[in-house]
Amino acid sequence: MNAPPVAERALDHLHTFLTARHPGYEDDPDLHNQARALSEAYTAGRLTPGAAASTAYLAHFGPRAIVATARAMRAVPCPEIVLEVGAGSGASALVLALSGARELFLCDADPRALERAEALLDGLAAVTTIPAPVGRLMPRYTPRLVLSAFSFGELPGTPAEALASLRGAAPKAEHVVIVDAGDRTHARRVQEARAVALAAGDVVLDPCPHQGACPALVRSTDWCMSRLDKRLPAPLARFAEGVGRSADDMAASLLVLGPGAPAEGALVLSRPHVEKGRVRVPVCGPGGLRYLQALSRHSAAYAYLTGLSAGDPIAALAPRPGTDTAHVTEGPA
Ligand SMILES: C[S@@+](CC[C@H](N)C(=O)[O-])C[C@H]1O[C@@H](n2cnc3c(N)ncnc32)[C@H](O)[C@@H]1O
Repeated sequence: MNAPPVAERALDHLHTFLTARHPGYEDDPDLHNQARALSEAYTAGRLTPGAAASTAYLAHFGPRAIVATARAMRAVPCPEIVLEVGAGSGASALVLALSGARELFLCDADPRALERAEALLDGLAAVTTIPAPVGRLMPRYTPRLVLSAFSFGELPGTPAEALASLRGAAPKAEHVVIVDAGDRTHARRVQEARAVALAAGDVVLDPCPHQGACPALVRSTDWCMSRLDKRLPAPLARFAEGVGRSADDMAASLLVLGPGAPAEGALVLSRPHVEKGRVRVPVCGPGGLRYLQALSRHSAAYAYLTGLSAGDPIAALAPRPGTDTAHVTEGPA
């Protein structure tokens, strides 16, 4: 029998860990209230130091860290020695450990969160913690991959400076993996880092199916994010429902840089726009933003496009000359 996917194993491990620390955590209304307050503080950008060490934090934010990191790590092989910057209480690092990393270097400005991370990762990999802001007192090591999960928006400076701090912390790293929240502010910062990386000659492995300029950066009101299916185990789903947050899906911004073959094709940018007699789907591919369009009388094509979601991969189709629209008349082969 095949082993369950990494995200599933990491979520199960998280549930077991939380149960050992706080039996019945999933139905505890006090923890739900704490998690709601943490979620509001995160959205307002005022999470206090130490917050990431709490059980409520791990139960609420742990699943999104696991799902988004596992999604991004699909694009790269996990090396044995890795660094995470802004590792917090270790949920994202759990994915690295279960993906095959043997030595984890975890950097975080919050020492209490790192203590939690060590407990969460106990027995899974050799863990060295670096309780300091990134850049300060980095030890001698050779991580081949550096991860920033839900910390890129907190790193000081411009997107270029934040990216440079990740690279500076792991000069031998071949892959840089960034995942962050899917809102406009966090996502645009990731997309600006993408532009900097491309200008420096990096290859974007994920999520973009092309190496061109990001069309989401053209207008300041746009951004690009991926919708991820959470599929939480029942207790973690119950916790999310108790907090009043979706247990089913989430939005994240992703960027995976490094050597390797860039993806080919196109990516659905948002849910289909159903209009009178037709459906239009914005996609990003070679040449930037395009629309796929199907008329309702082409029922197979119409059903196909209507069923697409943001983040779905799709074949790149050339638009009609002089327009931004490719016309689809049949369903997928
Ligand atoms: C939202 S948490 C994410 C934790 C974990 N990666 C996850 O996804 O659950 C962001 C973490 O980044 C850390 N952080 C913020 N600025 C930092 C910096 N300059 N250097 C190192 N860590 C930093 C914070 O202390 C916090 O633990």
